[in-house]
Parts: sequence; C-alpha cells; structure tokens
Amino acid sequence: MNSSKFNTIAGWTLGTALLVFGLNSLADVIYHAEAPEKPGYLIEVAEAETGGEATGGEEQPAVSLGTLMASADAAKGQAGFKACAACHTADKGGPNKVGPNLWGIVNRMHASHEGFNYSEAMAAKKAEPWTYEALNEFIHNPKAAVPGTKMAYGGLKRDQERANLLAYLGSLADTPVPPPAP
Ligand code: HEC
Repeated sequence: MNSSKFNTIAGWTLGTALLVFGLNSLADVIYHAEAPEKPGYLIEVAEAETGGEATGGEEQPAVSLGTLMASADAAKGQAGFKACAACHTADKGGPNKVGPNLWGIVNRMHASHEGFNYSEAMAAKKAEPWTYEALNEFIHNPKAAVPGTKMAYGGLKRDQERANLLAYLGSLADTPVPPPAP
C-alpha cells in the first residue's frame, strides 16, 4: 500500500467515524427532543376505562348508583363474585376465609363480623354501616376507600359490573335492603 492510498483509506475511515458519531449525537438530540416528558396518553386510557368517576370526571357525567342499580343484574353479579370467592364466602353462616363472610353485608357495620381479625383501618370505621354507596366505593378501589385495608384486591372498575355485584350482595340477606333511588 503506498502512502497516498493509506491516506485516502485513513481519511475515509476517519470521515466515516465522524459521520457515525455525528449521526449518533444527532439522533440523541432528536430522541431527547421528541421524547414526551411523561406518557400522558397511557394514563388517559386507564382513566377512560374507569368511566363515571365520582371525583373529577369531566369527560362524562357520573351516572348515579341508583340508576346503575335499576338496570343491574344480580345473576351477572353472582358470576362476578367469583373474583371475591377466593377470599369470601357469601352463604348464611359461612366461614371466614382470607376475608370475612359477606352474608347480610348491606347495612352491616364495618368490621363487625364475628371471629374475623380486621385491619386497624377497617376497625376504625366500625361505627359506619356498609351502605350500597360505601360498598360501591370500596369495591371500586379498596385502598383508596379505606386506606390501610388488608383486602388485597385491585378493584372492579366498570360501573355496571359493580352495580351487578352490589345487586347480588344485596340479595344475601333474609330481608334485602332496597337499592338507592335512581
Ligand atoms: C385476596 C383476598 C380478597 C379478595 C379477592 C376480596 N376480598 Fe374483600 N376482604 C378481604 C380482606 C382480607 C378483608 C378485610 C379487610 C380489612 O380488615 O382491612 C376484606 C373485607 C371486605 C369487606 C368488608 C367486610 C366487613 O365485614 O367490614 C367487603 C364488603 C368486601 N371485602 C367485599 C369484597 C368483594 C365484593 C370482593 C370481590 C369484588 C372482595 N371483597 C374481594 C379479602 C379479599
């Protein structure tokens, strides 16, 4: 290889290296410039799915629980209760499992089922009855409704499915409590 050829090759090599380096930096600049600060769109999707939030739902007005329950289907709610049955029994006199038995839960006082060891957070509410509204909030998002609860369940986000489940829970009583007016 004579020296002029060597110089040519060296020149090309250096040139290519600079070009690659330059493109990388350029890509860096473009990438950083275009990367969104936070993936807001992901969060929007998650919120849209929950629908009818009682707090801050500008997109759609919240449908009242009474209205949702007016068209609720307790049989569908019973099917939905499968998600709860891993931890709760629903029959009269049924045993406590990971969670307390839920017979007669509507208007039962919080943390009042015999023989169940409730969290402090739940026990602190023992003067409050489990109204349909309270159950609705709790089942929607247990950790938000009762911070510190030991119920390890993420929440049932769809309003109508929750209403179905509430209709089923309401049926678990000798004298069922009527649902709230629409
Ligand atoms: C992984 C187990 C688990 C699942 C699944 C679960 N729960 Fe619970 N649940 C618990 C535990 C544990 C408690 C007691 C919470 C506490 O003391 O903080 C509880 C408490 C409750 C209470 C309050 C009872 C009382 O006597 O005050 C209700 C109502 C309830 N659960 C309903 C449901 C419903 C409805 C579902 C299904 C949508 C469900 N839970 C799913 C474990 C579970």
